Amino acid sequence: MCGIFGFVAPQPLPASLVIDALRTLEYRGYDSWGIAFLDGDLARERIAVLKRAGRIPASTPNLPATVIALGHTRWATHGGVTDENAHPHLDCTGTLAIVHNGIIENYLPLRRALERSGHRFRSSTDSEIFAHLLEDTIASIEEHHPSASDDIPTLVEAVRHAFNQVRGLNALIALHRPTRQLVAVKSTSPLVLGHGPAGTFVASDAVALVGYTDRIHYLQDDEIALLDHQGLQLFDRCTGQRRSARWEPLTLRPADTSLGGYPHYLIKEIHEQPRVLARIARERLDGARQLADLIRHSYGTFLVGCGTAGYAALCGSYLFSRIARRHVNAVIASEFKYQEHFLTDRSLVIALTQSGETIDVIEAVHAAKRRGATVAALVNVTGSTVARLADFTIPLSAGPEQSVLSTKAYTAKLAILLLTAHILNGSEHVGLDTLWRAIEGMEMALAPATLDRIRAVADRLVDAQHCYVIGRGLSYPTALEAALKIKEVTYIHAEGFAGGELKHGVIALIEDGSPCLVFSPLDETRADILSGAMEVRSRGGWVIGISPEPDEAFHVHIPVADVGDASPLVSIVPAQLLAYELAVRRGLDPDKPRNLAKSVTVK
Ligand code: F6R
Repeated sequence: MCGIFGFVAPQPLPASLVIDALRTLEYRGYDSWGIAFLDGDLARERIAVLKRAGRIPASTPNLPATVIALGHTRWATHGGVTDENAHPHLDCTGTLAIVHNGIIENYLPLRRALERSGHRFRSSTDSEIFAHLLEDTIASIEEHHPSASDDIPTLVEAVRHAFNQVRGLNALIALHRPTRQLVAVKSTSPLVLGHGPAGTFVASDAVALVGYTDRIHYLQDDEIALLDHQGLQLFDRCTGQRRSARWEPLTLRPADTSLGGYPHYLIKEIHEQPRVLARIARERLDGARQLADLIRHSYGTFLVGCGTAGYAALCGSYLFSRIARRHVNAVIASEFKYQEHFLTDRSLVIALTQSGETIDVIEAVHAAKRRGATVAALVNVTGSTVARLADFTIPLSAGPEQSVLSTKAYTAKLAILLLTAHILNGSEHVGLDTLWRAIEGMEMALAPATLDRIRAVADRLVDAQHCYVIGRGLSYPTALEAALKIKEVTYIHAEGFAGGELKHGVIALIEDGSPCLVFSPLDETRADILSGAMEVRSRGGWVIGISPEPDEAFHVHIPVADVGDASPLVSIVPAQLLAYELAVRRGLDPDKPRNLAKSVTVK
């Protein structure tokens, strides 16, 4: 997790630009923030550091202009959330400042060795190791090879040595005062570089580079990037040889990352769903056909994902079973390695991931590759690690998802899986029709009439402590996803269950007034889920039915369109809206729930 950013400019730029960039990366972690920049005239140049625990302040502090700066927004792993533990970290002499994303697995022995040789640490983070290791390595290179070859600059050589000593998945940017250079290196954790008229930039995510460059290079694990006032140089991490950048266009525009008149990204992204799905209906048919072909020729298909993407995987397995009569396994990515023994070179692993950087998904992909399986991916961030590792990728093209809660990437994945299942079944046209009906159904779910009912439910639930959600069949994953949306953004304890499980224990929880959301599409689950709802109601539960038709079991009916097999795409929308409305009523930030970060890049 953590977001990192840096720039080197031929002419000074406001140092506060780093803080603005960090705001676009805050979704990666928001426990604390900090920046470091070169300050003062040439004779008395020093690295100035400003860092604090807590969220980035709404008003950007006034800072001087500078030619080189870096910054960090943190999701704490090692070391509590304190000012000292916020990044950047300096070496002992104030020559270097570093920002880091990842976990240094062997940090304890490294720290002890550095302390023994006289280094004084100011924080309790693993990250600070890098500042001291680099300090030592640079000193040693300068002592033993005072005229280091021009081909491999000292800073690059030092990073090569230092990075080889740490274990784990890490991304690092270091600012070196004497040479006015930034150096960047990574292992799995992403870093993207950009160059434009204002300077050369590096960040954890291309969203932070929007407005500064129109072309980007994704740093590879075997590369080291050196940024100075002349631009960007790349070096091979093993040999130190120079390499060329593979520039790609940066297609994001400032409007893609702005709030566009909405008060929060969450509500903006919920409303974007019909447009995202329409794009999939128009542009992803070919991709779905190729994916269907891969499934057809595989011997064992596994859908893997975490959290919301894991629920999309589960829903996918129902869609394939129901529409294509095909058994497709859904596995939570973090559990996948315990099942990888089933994989052969005829298996197909389909990774579902918005960010493409979720560590458990990356590990599942590596496991698949180890066993010779084919890897397909449904990914939103096109240049991400999973997108690059996969043999075949379908971009979700949902646009940046900036709220920590996943919404539009979830329904985008479902839309592609729905189409693919229909193609496998030979009913492509039906699939497309169903998807267009779902898009209309989503518009209806977002209309003011539905919203009024959802707001009335939110008014009543605002102080609830528990909430239950039930569904069967295709609606079971919807129940799980609805409960996740509610719990992660409202902190109300919400549990999703398969409707049939009620009588096996869950119903013991129902008491007078217990809220229970019931998903009841007009499919084969209806009779059974309604009798479950009635059993909840008879025990005092307050039942909110999300269904195309009313029923006596419901205290409140939230109508949704009847869209057949696409019901999971539409039914989830009222639950997303309810979660948002509840968060607002409870005075919580709908975009940045406590303890969470959008990209889970550490285990
Ligand atoms: C929930 C949520 C998470 C993500 C999960 C996987 O709203 O956002 O559960 O779905 O962390 O992330 P990706 O899809 O980036 O792999």
